[in-house]
Amino acid sequence: MLKITYIAHSAFILDDGKYKVALDPFITGNPNATIKLEDVKPDFIFVSHGHGDHIGDTIELAKANDSTVITIADLAYYLNKKGIKTHDMNIGGEYEFPFGTLKMTMAQHSAGSLEGESMGNSTGAIISMGGRKVYFAGDTGLFVDMKFIGEISKPDVLMLPIGGNYTMGIDDAVKAVELINTADIVIPMHFNTFPVIKTDVEKFKNKIADIGKKAIVLGYGETISL
Ligand code: NI
Ligand code: MN
Repeated sequence: MLKITYIAHSAFILDDGKYKVALDPFITGNPNATIKLEDVKPDFIFVSHGHGDHIGDTIELAKANDSTVITIADLAYYLNKKGIKTHDMNIGGEYEFPFGTLKMTMAQHSAGSLEGESMGNSTGAIISMGGRKVYFAGDTGLFVDMKFIGEISKPDVLMLPIGGNYTMGIDDAVKAVELINTADIVIPMHFNTFPVIKTDVEKFKNKIADIGKKAIVLGYGETISL
């Protein structure tokens, strides 16, 4: 069984009862986050890219919990210099962690730099954990290789950005679900945090229902078991 807690924005906690993996833990400065930083306690943290709304509280959380940060090599190098324990990866690579496997995927999105260090590329992750296979897309536009993510990795849960402006909007996210095809459950993310990514999540829910899949819209701080 896999417990998924939605912090807000693109921040989640995956919990299989033994390990906790935080995804893009943006809590401080996140207007919708209700969970307290000290309650997150991750064993691992996956950071999709170096933008502030994704790296978020990674440094503080990793320091406080002795967490290992899984991220692209360039961002890992930056975190190493801050004294953070990392497991660096790159796009296309897969590794067996104590909680399960994680395969790093591409994401069509910029990554920028922090304090003069390149953040490399933006990524996503396909995470096998608690009997589930979750594709956390990170920040991305639609890309046709998502078809191969479906064919090769066969995820059964998708976490997709739907807010538009910086990432896919509703229609492209629906197309992504169709391209991947193997997942019946879709959890939308990266919307309604800032005015520019405000979107009608009910519309997304209905469009996903129209293609025979299910969108689960999580409340801030809500946990579901899958
Ligand atoms: Ni971004
Ligand atoms: Mn973002």
